[in-house]
This record gives sequence, structure tokens and C-alpha cells, in this order.
Amino acid sequence: MSPSLLKTHPRYKIASIPADGIGPEVIEAGVTVLKKLAETLKTFDLDFTNFDWSSDTYKKTGKYMPGDALTTLKKFDAILFGAVGAPDVPDHISLWQLRLAICQPLQQYANVRPTKVFKGTSSPLRNCKAGELDWVIVRENSEGEYAGHGGRSHTNQPWEVATEVSIFTRHSVERIIRFAFEVAKGRPKKHLTVVTKSNAQRNGMVMWDAIAAEVGKDFPDVTVDKMLVDAMTVRMVLKPESLDTIVATNLHADILSDLAAALAGSIGIAPTSNLDPSRENPSMFEPIHGSAFDITGMGIANPVATFWTACEMLTWLGEKEAADSLLDIVESVCEQGIMTKDLGGSATTVEVTTAVCKEIEARLGKPKTV
Ligand code: NAI
Ligand code: MG
Repeated sequence: MSPSLLKTHPRYKIASIPADGIGPEVIEAGVTVLKKLAETLKTFDLDFTNFDWSSDTYKKTGKYMPGDALTTLKKFDAILFGAVGAPDVPDHISLWQLRLAICQPLQQYANVRPTKVFKGTSSPLRNCKAGELDWVIVRENSEGEYAGHGGRSHTNQPWEVATEVSIFTRHSVERIIRFAFEVAKGRPKKHLTVVTKSNAQRNGMVMWDAIAAEVGKDFPDVTVDKMLVDAMTVRMVLKPESLDTIVATNLHADILSDLAAALAGSIGIAPTSNLDPSRENPSMFEPIHGSAFDITGMGIANPVATFWTACEMLTWLGEKEAADSLLDIVESVCEQGIMTKDLGGSATTVEVTTAVCKEIEARLGKPKTV
């Protein structure tokens, strides 16, 4: 057989977990678009397996996931996640029993959140021109303020006490900062901003700063600056063009990335990747937004964040060309004005999805032979 006939045609196994609220609506849209892309390009296949792990499942069975969930997930190449959170389940239960119960044991320690102002959309910042806001936030995703270290004593007594201890280990801080330097190195500006709060938090955050300075020596071509998290919010609003790649702790980056999403125009656009850079475990990809109970079932959830999430997943799987084409197509659909209400349009989730599918066919479909 000639080598060209042996060219691999990869088949990626994707676990989809739509979960709660608008999660199923946007994941359905994402899967539709991904299937259309694979069918049209014919250079790779995608096999989806759906898991009904959600707050409904929890309410019926007492568990979000079965006991062997992690073993099951390890058999997949990637996980596509919707959103978790229901009005009648406390958020700390839903988050810890589903999303964090996947991210933490699967060592998805790098949470990557790109943000930019899409063509056809605008930033709420008065003077922000296209191209000026184009950031990647790298969030530590395995420990820090979300390490779950702490407890409550004397419950419901007037002297009740609760502790929430942040855990920072040299191992985890170094690996996330190194990862962030690599991301910065791969971007045109080659600039990294290290965010901490090392004036007030004088232990863990001072160690972050010290490790950033050490790791930085291995990346002479990346310029670095340091910001305190409070001042960072001001810089994001007033000087968006001065930022490129940003690295911060689990809590700080969680907050900064919601601000970033809002500054880029809507929380309905931005994606999140939960990566295990060692590739020992599958990584998990999700829109940044939550389950949005206020618009659930109305058919108006913006699917763009999930489409961009799908692009990030394809890039991670090695299909960068397909991912770039898809992101370009999604932007062009926004540019045509086919957008949901959060972006100032009047299209439904299905209408945006259909428009993206049509554009995939128009741009990437092979011309028919007569
Ligand atoms: P949210 O992101 O669900 O909603 C915030 C606001 O943005 C709402 O007004 C909502 O309608 C709007 N919005 C969000 N996504 C949208 C989309 N795709 N299109 C159009 N509008 C959109 O955040 P909220 O309200 O704080 O949390 C709701 C639930 O989601 C809570 O239970 C929370 O714990 C959970 N949550 C889960 C996350 C996850 O699964 N990774 C992330 C954030 C929140
Ligand atoms: Mg958040």
C-alpha cells in the first residue's frame, strides 16, 4: 500500500456531559456543528458518547456520577462539558460533585481562557478597538483557594468558625507558570503578566512571585510584568491593549476571566479548556458561562462560547487547521449579524447553529463534480 493510502484518519472519542440549565442546549448546538465539520472535511471522525450526569440525576439518585465515572472518562480523548448548577441544589455541591470531581483527579491543572472581541460584536469599553482586547488567561486549576482545605466547627453557634485555607505547592505553582510562559511564547506579543496579591498575602503569593522570576529565566524571549489582582482589574478596563497572556491563581483568575468575558462583549462567547498538559488523562472543554437558569428552555442561549470551546478542543486533539476554519466561520456568522440577544441580535440558538452549519458547507464542502 502506498504511504499516502496509509495516511491516518483519526477517530476521536468525545464524552459529552451537557448537565444543567442551558448546558444541554449549547452542547446540542456544539455537537451539531462539530459533526457537520467532520462530515464536511472528511479528514477526521468524531464519536460522541453522551452522559446524563447532572443535577437531575443527583436529585433522583443522590449522585452526580457513578462510582466508576473517572475510569469511564479515561477511555475518551476529550470531554465536552456544558454547565452545572441548579436552583434547588447548593452550588458548592453541584460544583464539587461534578465539575471539580472531574478536573481535580484527572489532573487538568491548566485552565486556559482565551478572550477577544469577535468581529461583528463590540466591547462595552468605549474606546476599545478591534484587536486591542486579545488575551489568554491561564488559571491554576488544581489547588490554591479551591483546594477544599478547611472546615467548620461549632456549627450554628454564635462562635461558629470556618476556615478556607489556600494551598500553594511549589510543584503546582511552577508547572502552571511554566505552562503560561509556553502559551505566551507561542503568541505574537510574547508577553506574560503574572497576577498575585503578594502585598497582603505574604506567604503563598510571595512564593508565586519568586517562582515566576525563576521560571522566567528559561524564557528570555518572553517579556514579563507583575500585577496585584486589584490593580489588574483597572488595567484590564483602561489599558486592554497592554495585556496578552495572564497567569493567576485559581480564585483570582476565576474572577478576572469573568471580567474579561464581559469586557469582550458577552459571557456567551468565551471558552475554557481544563487541560492535563501531560496528556495522561483526557482534557475537558466547556463554555465559561454557567447554567443560566434565567434563560433555560427559551431557545436563546448563545452557542458561540460552545463553538469556540469546540475549536479549542479540536486544537488540543491536533486538528488546528479545522479549528481555525471553524472559529473564522463562527466569527463571520456574528459579522453577518446572526447573533443571540446577549450580543444585541435576535437570532435563536438554533438559528445561529444552522447559520454556522451552512457556512461550513459553503466554505469547506468540496465542489460537487458534475
Ligand atoms: P451564568 O453564567 O449561568 O449566568 C450569568 C448571566 O449570563 C445570566 O444572566 C445568563 O442568562 C447569562 N448567560 C450565561 N450564559 C449565556 C449564554 N450562553 N447566552 C446568553 N446569556 C448567557 O452564571 P450564574 O447565574 O452566576 O450561575 C448560574 C448557575 O451556573 C449557578 O448554579 C452556578 O454555580 C453555575 N455555574 C456553573 C459553571 C460551570 O459549570 N462551569 C460556571 C459558572 C456558574
Ligand atoms: Mg467562574
